[in-house]
Amino acid sequence: MDVDGIEKAALAAIDAATDERSLDDARVRFLGRKGELTTLARGLGRMSAAERPAAGAAINAAKERVQSAVEVRRRFLDTQQLERELAQEAVDVTLPGRRRPGGSLHPITMTFRRIERIFEAAGYDVVSGPEIEDEYHNFAALNIPADHPARAMHDTLYLDNGMLLRTHTSPVQVRVMESQPPPIRVICPGRVYRKDNVDASHSPMFHQVEGLVVDEGIAFADLKGAVVDFVHGFFEQDLAVRFRPSYFPFTEPSAEVDVQCVHCLGAGCRACAYTGWTEVLGCGMVHPNVLSMAGIDTERFTGFAFGFGVDRFATIFYEIDDMRLLFDNELRFLEQFA
Ligand code: PHE
Repeated sequence: MDVDGIEKAALAAIDAATDERSLDDARVRFLGRKGELTTLARGLGRMSAAERPAAGAAINAAKERVQSAVEVRRRFLDTQQLERELAQEAVDVTLPGRRRPGGSLHPITMTFRRIERIFEAAGYDVVSGPEIEDEYHNFAALNIPADHPARAMHDTLYLDNGMLLRTHTSPVQVRVMESQPPPIRVICPGRVYRKDNVDASHSPMFHQVEGLVVDEGIAFADLKGAVVDFVHGFFEQDLAVRFRPSYFPFTEPSAEVDVQCVHCLGAGCRACAYTGWTEVLGCGMVHPNVLSMAGIDTERFTGFAFGFGVDRFATIFYEIDDMRLLFDNELRFLEQFA
């Protein structure tokens, strides 16, 4: 076959190649070691010296054109392949995203923060004390001597070394008065422990916030104002608040505070046992014995104290009907507060 015929066949085969593989087959068929153009060039030796230069030049020129046709075709096929891949792998930006699970604060923590924010705005400092207490700070310094029946009200968890787990946050009152002179205006949030069995409204560990204000001229009216302002601030509505006479060894006079039921607003419902009220807090004027045991001059200073259960406030605020939910660490429950 002549060189022009072979070149035409080569260019046709190259044009017909639809992928790398068929293109390479075409290249080998014409330019390979035993390819048609290669074989033709080898035949130059058998030609006469007169014919050889022109024939050699024609074959070389044909080889170069075929070679460059292969390269052009290869680039074309590469581009085509890339475009196909891009079309296939396109990102659909309209697909909905996948949500990452995020952490959130526990309802008790959120309640503590809410309470602290309200008291801080009213000028209170937030202080803390030890959960492992001694008998003196948990009882004796609070006017509860060893034989006092009030000790039986607190089902105390004692440790082997004679220490105990504090049964209320009131010992922090004593520690604050021992460590700083009046004026005192503090709240003490923290965990407390009692030998209680778990049920819908009891847990052996729960949370309290204690409040203590000591200064010259502090009266029961100041206590009432502080408690009512806090309750209104916490529930963000002006619920009715009532003070019932009560008894605590460390306050005199003492009161228990009820708040209008947030569910029925006083009409009476299951949540308030049809009384219209919810008991939320204990308080009173700090007993002079407590002040003087802590080294405070009772002629000059008076004070008030209050204490309340944070779990109670949390369950009322978030409308949780079983306190156990706060301690179960059930994600489906906790995720509702995220
Ligand atoms: N410590 C009391 C309790 O745990 C609450 C209280 C605190 C009452 C301060 C009066 C004053 O029940």
